[in-house]
Amino acid sequence: MPFSFKDRNILVTGGAGFIGSNMVKSLIAENMVTVLDNFSAVDDRFLKPLAGKNLKVIKGDITKQETFRKLQQFDMIFHLAANSDVKHGSSDPMIDVNTNDTGTVNVLEFMRRSDSREIGFSSSSTVYGETDVLPTPETYGPYRPISSYGASKAAGEGYIFAYSHYYGLRGSIYRFANVVGTNSTHGVIFDFIHKLKKDPKNLEILGDGTQRKSYIHVDDCVNSMLYIHGLNRPTDVYNLGNTGTTGVLFIADRVCQKMGLKGVRYNFVPSKGGRGWPGDVKLAHLSIDKITSLGWKNRYSSDQAVEISIDETLKTIT
Ligand SMILES: NC(=O)c1ccc[n+]([C@@H]2O[C@H](COP(=O)([O-])OP(=O)(O)OC[C@H]3O[C@@H](n4cnc5c(N)ncnc54)[C@H](O)[C@@H]3O)[C@@H](O)[C@H]2O)c1
Repeated sequence: MPFSFKDRNILVTGGAGFIGSNMVKSLIAENMVTVLDNFSAVDDRFLKPLAGKNLKVIKGDITKQETFRKLQQFDMIFHLAANSDVKHGSSDPMIDVNTNDTGTVNVLEFMRRSDSREIGFSSSSTVYGETDVLPTPETYGPYRPISSYGASKAAGEGYIFAYSHYYGLRGSIYRFANVVGTNSTHGVIFDFIHKLKKDPKNLEILGDGTQRKSYIHVDDCVNSMLYIHGLNRPTDVYNLGNTGTTGVLFIADRVCQKMGLKGVRYNFVPSKGGRGWPGDVKLAHLSIDKITSLGWKNRYSSDQAVEISIDETLKTIT
């Protein structure tokens, strides 16, 4: 890899969260890592085991410009801090505008001022909206996001392209499918396990049960982010997902089975059009031809990622 993630000074915004803490874990052995997080989604439970001389943690809010005033130049910034709760948008779209748009522009302004030149940005499959091409390639357009979350990620991508053009930044924009695995604090697996712990006889399933989406394990997600950025290509977008999809009923069945539960009654709660919630894309399958053509290969399939993540999540929920 021409771009080495070794002996570098790296900022991870949102580093206390699910994907962020896994990213920090993979970087910490050979780099100096600073986490910037306001701990709104999770406390420091995933960072505590990583404490050491290579990790600095700053509590701060990316929506406030003053948060960045004391920070110095970084070799690389993984910008993962966001409102990650897609469901929240329909009741309060401004959370996506503030955290995901203003927050991202604040990060880019900090990069401009500090002459930090490399950014990895966590975008999402939701930028595409409901597409008539599945698997959906990066070239698909125009975007028609159906959530303020998806709209805010599309805007964030746009600012990264603009700042790259104006100021010579280099950005890797990652459009994640559904990421699952260790340290997850949200998403379908986490949700089902929590509900079944409370009521082992009934499971509320958001949507009409026909949703099918691609899942990627967080280890594959972090590795592919590093791999892509390591190729040293100019600013560009990359779908990170899987070759197949997994249905919501498969996930429900496997969670019940792994929890040793039989005869669980599934109660479907469909939103408009059978969606799980307003803004839910029922069929989401990203084409990963671009990243595979660059030499990347997922370790786990979508179904495997789900299976492993159920085991991992069960271990952490008491
Ligand atoms: N998990 C997925 O399946 C998925 C899919 C697509 C995109 N993404 C994106 O990947 C990134 C990481 O997602 P995640 O699943 O780890 O979510 P997460 O909620 O676990 O992590 C986000 C982190 O950002 C922090 N944060 C939120 N608002 C902040 C603010 N104003 N200032 C500073 N920190 C703030 C939270 O405290 C949290 O630690 C997000 O940008 C998310 O939108 C995730």
